[in-house]
Amino acid sequence: MSIMSIGNCEVVLQVFSRAVSQISGSDLSFRNSDSVCPTTFLIKCIKRRALRHMNNFKCSSMIRSHIGVSLFNSVGFGKIGNLLNNRSQHLTCECQHAESGGGVTTEDGNGTWFVESTKKLNLNGLVTNPNVLGFEDIQQLKSKDGLMSNRSVGIGRDAFHNAAVNSIENEAWDLLRESVVYYCGSPIGTIAANDPTSSSVLNYDQVFIRDFIPSGIAFLLKGEYDIVRNFILHTLQLQSWEKTMDCHSPGQGLMPASFKVRTVPLDGDDSATEEVLDPDFGEAAIGRVAPVDSGLWWIILLRAYGKCSNDLSVQERVDVQTGIKMILRLCLADGFDMFPTLLVTDGSCMIDRRMGIHGHPLEIQALFYSALLCAREMLTPEDGSADLIRALNNRLVALSFHIREYYWIDLRKLNEIYRYKTEEYSYDAVNKFNIYPDQISPWLVEWMPNKGGYLIGNLQPAHMDFRFFSLGNLWSIVSGVVTNDQSHAILDLIEAKWTDLVADMPFKICYPALDGQEWQIVTGSDPKNTPWSYHNAGSWPTLLWQLTVACIKMNRPEIATRAVEVAEKRISQDKWPEYYDTKRARFIGKQARLFQTWSIAGYLVAKLLLADPSAAKVLITEEDSELVNAFTCMISANPRRKRGRKNLKQTYIV
Ligand code: GLC
Repeated sequence: MSIMSIGNCEVVLQVFSRAVSQISGSDLSFRNSDSVCPTTFLIKCIKRRALRHMNNFKCSSMIRSHIGVSLFNSVGFGKIGNLLNNRSQHLTCECQHAESGGGVTTEDGNGTWFVESTKKLNLNGLVTNPNVLGFEDIQQLKSKDGLMSNRSVGIGRDAFHNAAVNSIENEAWDLLRESVVYYCGSPIGTIAANDPTSSSVLNYDQVFIRDFIPSGIAFLLKGEYDIVRNFILHTLQLQSWEKTMDCHSPGQGLMPASFKVRTVPLDGDDSATEEVLDPDFGEAAIGRVAPVDSGLWWIILLRAYGKCSNDLSVQERVDVQTGIKMILRLCLADGFDMFPTLLVTDGSCMIDRRMGIHGHPLEIQALFYSALLCAREMLTPEDGSADLIRALNNRLVALSFHIREYYWIDLRKLNEIYRYKTEEYSYDAVNKFNIYPDQISPWLVEWMPNKGGYLIGNLQPAHMDFRFFSLGNLWSIVSGVVTNDQSHAILDLIEAKWTDLVADMPFKICYPALDGQEWQIVTGSDPKNTPWSYHNAGSWPTLLWQLTVACIKMNRPEIATRAVEVAEKRISQDKWPEYYDTKRARFIGKQARLFQTWSIAGYLVAKLLLADPSAAKVLITEEDSELVNAFTCMISANPRRKRGRKNLKQTYIV
């Protein structure tokens, strides 16, 4: 039983008896929690140098189980240290090329990547797909319709349209498959971008956790489960990899932002090489940003895998259960925070550069809530987890309350803020965060539609970031951290602001752009994030899939269909760019990669889900009755709502 104090009202939350019924309690610090170590295995794929250029692998593997070794030391769930970091203690995967291979994989010049490569290159080195009919081709064909009768024009037009759409989808599938990265001969993820025109690769040749999510969902929806299973299990191994930056290592449980398959000489054997997975937790990333979203996405994908494949054995594995708990512990660890939202540095999510989103950015909160709900579904109750599950449940309630109450903005709320009193020292202040009404940005006064609303980007003491951040708003709908009415209102706003948020290519990452002095101060004059480019209100086709899931959840798929149609006009001809620039998304982004995998996969997921909306349930989470009850108690205990009701001293058993 935990006690939450709200204003002068003590709410006793004896929440979620279901989840904890079989578990005995202990203290909230999680210190004694697990006595079981995951069955960890790290994979090395060893191969003879002389055989490097041949095709198939045969792998023999050996699993060394560490069950029974205590994972967590007396400083809480501290460093797992050498146990997990000593590569040689883990699964060794000896790979020999089969002489007679059928060419499933090929190797690039560095011998590093194993990517199916069936692309055809034209003389400029650009990838071409002879099968794709662009929309312009269709228009030309249509103009020849002039000679046809009206009826046959109609039929012909539909047929052309369908043919064009099918060819775009086929091309997308081909490209997605070409982006697959192999490790020891097995598919393990997808490369971030496969752009033959780009001179500087940076880390776009890596498998990014967040980028793989739409790829993974596309494969799941196609019934191809292996790649997702491999991805989940291999990234799990990386979770505990000790990485340091200037002698400091991040918290255990952090998932990497990305990883690369490297081929390195085998110790002590000049004639052989081995493959290793090399993760980047941010210690090499531009700006050294921490990928807070990675672990949250990992949990969401794990649940989707179980739901799609009906293979619950993965989520039930001891090492996977431990992995989930490590992520949760990292997120739920006590700190200095006053708010239930996760406190993070700038650039800790899809926007992985300085963009003024440090603090409590909406995207992280929506993913956090989603991951908590998914984890709650998957955790197998056992001794030692009671405190974790209790903390998780309490956090769910507090988080949804906080987001619904304090992040929500519509015309009515805006007017309320406009008339806020400030400097309220009291437990029942209305303007809890001491927001000065002058902060209301002039653009917002004009922009806020009469019908609709949205969640602001960030909330801090005396600071509201009024920018509209798309992923955060869309995933808030999907996860149910907002109410049903709020979810509809967000979609109402998207419809009302179509020309700002979709225009010529869905979907603006945020709105509006930071400009002038604000851009200088907030981004540090970042030349990549100039107004209406990249993270600063650029348009990202990958966001199509999150839009589609949100629309399907609210039974308004027509909004997503419209957006997909906008994308289909250009995306294939433009070679699947990472992002678009300008206010109306008219230009391919200045530094955008072409053949960006999550642009391709995002489109495919949107198409697959619109064709079978019921499949979206693998990503959607709903509030259950226990959460609703707990939430109702908090709402009625909120001082802002109970003004005038004196001496409320209630105890809620939820
Ligand atoms: C950029 C994006 C990031 C993405 C990465 C790889 O850094 O901001 O969200 O994961 O590219 O595509």
